[in-house]
Amino acid sequence: MPKLIVVTREGEERELEGEAGLSVMEVIRDGGVDELLALCGGCCSCATCHVHVDPAFVDKLPEMSEDEDDLLDSSDDRDETSRLSCQIPFSDALDGLKVRIASDD
Ligand code: FES
Repeated sequence: MPKLIVVTREGEERELEGEAGLSVMEVIRDGGVDELLALCGGCCSCATCHVHVDPAFVDKLPEMSEDEDDLLDSSDDRDETSRLSCQIPFSDALDGLKVRIASDD
């Protein structure tokens, strides 16, 4: 199973077993990291699943939709590594992906 590394807001690093077919948000949520609120359940309408992706993996991710881009604009913590984790399908190709949970704004 591919692994996902999550860095919490406190800087704690956790290694989660991911299931291909789930979104990165679902892997984080199912792994018991409850600070990722993911309030809309993955419908790309809340931005509470915002993460910063390790730059080494940015090229392996699917392109951002206009909706995701607009939602990320609502965050003060947005930078060039920002993504909504519900919009990233997890897969074997992303084994070892590291994401940091964005600040709560
Ligand atoms: S869970 Fe709401 S936008 Fe990702």
